[in-house]
Amino acid sequence: RSTRFYDFKIQTKSVKKLCNSNQIVVVNDMYPGPVVYAQEGDRIIVQVTNESPYNATIHWHGVRQILSCWFDGPSYITQCPIQPGQKFTYEFTMVKQRGTFFWHAHFSWLRATVHGALIVYPKTGVPYPFQFPYEEHIIILGEYWNQDIVQLERQVLASGGGPPPADAFTINGHPGPNYNCSANDFYKIDVVPGKTYLLRLIHAAINMENFFTIANHKLTIVEADAEYTQPLVTDRVMLGPGQTINVLVTADQPVGKYSMAMGPYMSAQGVPFQNISAVGYFQYLGAVTNSLPSPAPLPRFNNNLAVQTIMSGLKGLNTSNVPKEIDTNLFVTIGLNVNKCRSKTPQQNCQGPNSGTFAASMNNFSFVKPTVSVLEAYYKGIEGYYTEDFPGAPLKFYDFVNGAPNNAPRDTNAGNGTRTRVIEYGSRVQMIFQNTGTVSTENHPIHLHGYSFYVVGFGNGNYNPQTVQFNLVDPPYMNTIGVPVGGWAAIRFVADNPGVWFMHCHLDVHQSWGLGTAIIVKNGKGHLETLPHPPADLPRC
Ligand code: C2O
Repeated sequence: RSTRFYDFKIQTKSVKKLCNSNQIVVVNDMYPGPVVYAQEGDRIIVQVTNESPYNATIHWHGVRQILSCWFDGPSYITQCPIQPGQKFTYEFTMVKQRGTFFWHAHFSWLRATVHGALIVYPKTGVPYPFQFPYEEHIIILGEYWNQDIVQLERQVLASGGGPPPADAFTINGHPGPNYNCSANDFYKIDVVPGKTYLLRLIHAAINMENFFTIANHKLTIVEADAEYTQPLVTDRVMLGPGQTINVLVTADQPVGKYSMAMGPYMSAQGVPFQNISAVGYFQYLGAVTNSLPSPAPLPRFNNNLAVQTIMSGLKGLNTSNVPKEIDTNLFVTIGLNVNKCRSKTPQQNCQGPNSGTFAASMNNFSFVKPTVSVLEAYYKGIEGYYTEDFPGAPLKFYDFVNGAPNNAPRDTNAGNGTRTRVIEYGSRVQMIFQNTGTVSTENHPIHLHGYSFYVVGFGNGNYNPQTVQFNLVDPPYMNTIGVPVGGWAAIRFVADNPGVWFMHCHLDVHQSWGLGTAIIVKNGKGHLETLPHPPADLPRC
């Protein structure tokens, strides 16, 4: 096992994009940020210095952080932010994990430009369970705003209404020719005819889910959320924020220039978004460079079926540990709701539907981030910053509009609080997520920190324990699950990693509106089951 050292400086950078000059926050002057490389079992040490004007933290998305909860990164959950001018060193081990991960800021919406890949190779001599690729490429799907992103979050929250769409979708930071002033701002992969490539797709966008496709080429999914899957051949993939997918693609078409494209998946009604695609190229050696590329056909933005087809085909590869029995069962409603306007100046800050204020909740509670980290308060036994009463089922049981499935159940006027759920060490946990919402319903990418979980079931309409059949044989092992539009999803995992773990919708605006909670997994008996002491340089609030 070796140790990998990295030095991250969070700083502002001037960029010219989309006919604008702009200041964005990045790491080491790079957008997207530097790639962290490691091998399974390695120790990763990253010293982060915050030279930006904003608070910041770095989260290592998908890394389980076995007994290293202090280095997980979500602000006010496991640490106070690193303040401007301060440093913090993250230190953790890649225990039994390999694959495509990414790191991103976990403060406000800074993740929009503060992100990069974390690639972990298998141990020496351990092959991939698929054909070894000729080459591999990282493809980060993102969103770009001309506006300062931290200000934007503040404005959206102050308005009570929804967020404006991004100014562009991006592939590795490049919008491509569908956008103004971007004819030469595109990403391109040069390929050798006949060779097979591994594309490591990372979804780092903020408020949108996206399809990705390459014209005329089949994609074979071999990994999702840094866990191997059985090979699944498809024309396109859909990723929600926080998801990573590895695909193999063979340059088996006539020599030419082919488009790759990233476009929106958005089935909620009335949500403004850009129905336009970011375009890059998959270009064969020997192709006429100024030839017109074959366009890449994306599914329509509201094509739920395309998403379901991929998800139902996705099967895990090494799935012998799926919990067959459970001893902790949580039913969690997730959705958007509208709270009544309580402001004295409604024209300024109640611009949500029906002159109300947008909110989002789990089991009728909108999560409020505390002013010290939940982990620190828990560890030191400081009272008053959080409670342990996150309910195991919604307080107001949802009633079905007209009793019909697929109608959004009611979830109005959620309460506020920093409510957590305590789970015994070693519990076999099941969670059922039911997608609800009074406004409209959309796919919510729910992410759990500190764990991967088996996705044992999902479906349309309302979860019905009488009729569901779970897949306990070969479910995919993931860390972010898109809970289908107006539907449900079921996950299982063993709670064997003590600490405080954030669970939230990875669409940032939903997180800002409170779509989250934290689970506290207690210590087990031995010292290998016990959360260590906090690091000496842990930032203070
Ligand atoms: Cu990818 Cu809580 O984050």
